Amino acid sequence: MPEKSAVSRRSVLGGALATGAAAAGVVGVGAPPALAADAVEPATTSGWRPHRPGQKSMIGVPYEPHRTVRVAVVGLGQRGTGMTTGWSVVPGGVVTAVCDVRTERAERTADRLVSAGKPRPAVYGGDDNAYRRMLRRDDIDLVYIATPWEFHHRQGRDALLAGKHAIVELPVATELHELWDLVDTSERTRRHLFLAENCSYGRNELAMLRMAHEGLFGDVTNGHGGYLHDLRALLFSDTYYTDSWRRLWHTRSIASLYPMHGLAPIAAAMDVNRGDRMTTLRATATEARGLADYRARHVPRSHPSWRETYVNGDLVTCLIETQRGRIIRAEHDVSSPRPYSRINSLAGTRGIFEDYAGTSRTGGRVYLEPDHTDHRWRDFERLRTEFDHWLWKKVGDDAADNGGHGGMDYILQWRTVQQMRAGLVPDIDVYDSAVWCAPIPLSAASLRAGGRPVPVPDFTRGSWVNKRPGLDSRPSDMPAAATR
Ligand SMILES: NC(=O)c1ccc[n+]([C@@H]2O[C@H](COP(=O)([O-])OP(=O)(O)OC[C@H]3O[C@@H](n4cnc5c(N)ncnc54)[C@H](O)[C@@H]3O)[C@@H](O)[C@H]2O)c1
Repeated sequence: MPEKSAVSRRSVLGGALATGAAAAGVVGVGAPPALAADAVEPATTSGWRPHRPGQKSMIGVPYEPHRTVRVAVVGLGQRGTGMTTGWSVVPGGVVTAVCDVRTERAERTADRLVSAGKPRPAVYGGDDNAYRRMLRRDDIDLVYIATPWEFHHRQGRDALLAGKHAIVELPVATELHELWDLVDTSERTRRHLFLAENCSYGRNELAMLRMAHEGLFGDVTNGHGGYLHDLRALLFSDTYYTDSWRRLWHTRSIASLYPMHGLAPIAAAMDVNRGDRMTTLRATATEARGLADYRARHVPRSHPSWRETYVNGDLVTCLIETQRGRIIRAEHDVSSPRPYSRINSLAGTRGIFEDYAGTSRTGGRVYLEPDHTDHRWRDFERLRTEFDHWLWKKVGDDAADNGGHGGMDYILQWRTVQQMRAGLVPDIDVYDSAVWCAPIPLSAASLRAGGRPVPVPDFTRGSWVNKRPGLDSRPSDMPAAATR
């Protein structure tokens, strides 16, 4: 199904932001670029571009060690506010600056940190370029970006150019040329930029990863993941997504807008960028029905959303092939009634794991030869305990006390800060981040081409063939001093 361009993304979003910004007394909020104008990589058989002069890979490049990790936060809405607490409580982390175009949100966050006994961060806001003024500070090591999607590429890139490392909420960018630009800019500046992919640190996901690496599934042949989350009430709320930015994406583009939470753990278990690589992607999309149906039943006719037309299919499915012949199915649906699921299923020649499958404590079930031969599922509990990742054993209790999303937010933040303190190589790098986000523009391109396969770029420029560590780390990789 082709992208419908009658309502351009630039005009819709720019208009909405301008309206909301004016109402909030904010000036100069810029309109984002259009999605997927360049969605298909210029055809090359290898799918990668040569390094430009002066650029070298960031694979395996450690952080410089830090005594403390000074974090600046951009975007203090739902997500940024919650995560700011995490950055301020992980050992060795301190929040030195906060920024939101709505200055009062930055002030409020600063006040909260002071009330919690933390130093007051510097506050920036008032216009779209406030974050650039903040980036001039010399007391920032890491910039955490939690603004709407349309700002991520520009803000992430600017953080790198200012000499900071950057951790960016999903997605790091929505266009292929932007993804390449982040890879290039990271390589040029020698700074890391990576996706804040918290679900990759989920307890089930990490146990599944370890089981895959221990060979419990035999040869892994396929996996399924996605983001299936009934967001309808939040999408139509006037107080949740600022200026309704997330609903407006559904008026502009037909694409898998946010599959990464389910896709990334499957890609990690298949060693994508570490021995395998995604080669092609083809997408399907259902009709766009769910949001209009919800609006008709729950939203008053006076609401501004009645001027909108929703074009993105309720369920967008990507089928991704890998160089080693594996298949990943990645799904996205935020417009239909259903309980939450990231699917999170992995299978191979010796067995299968399925998450979100039952009522057990872990939510997972398994079937693994040679132990299981009777065609009946087994509860995941015993194997999750056996393959529990060291991060969860070490800081799982702190995560439960401090973190959102069942603790995986805290694990992501704890690990990031400790890796920076110890001067280690990040678990997730710019190449992982780029390929996990590439299905956004690639699904749009495939749908425009009637569902035909499109090539997935190799952001590693050929280095995917090399095995290397990633999320499946060991405690011995981390100096003791950094784990206290
Ligand atoms: N990893 C996760 O589990 C998870 C969960 C929720 C949201 N997210 C991601 O977090 C991001 C933010 O989502 P949210 O729900 O917090 O949205 P939100 O609308 O609540 O917050 C966005 C904030 O960004 C601010 N902002 C907008 N443009 C800005 C600019 N140019 N400079 C500075 N601030 C700006 C807004 O004023 C607002 O306060 C999104 O990318 C979303 O996908 C991730």
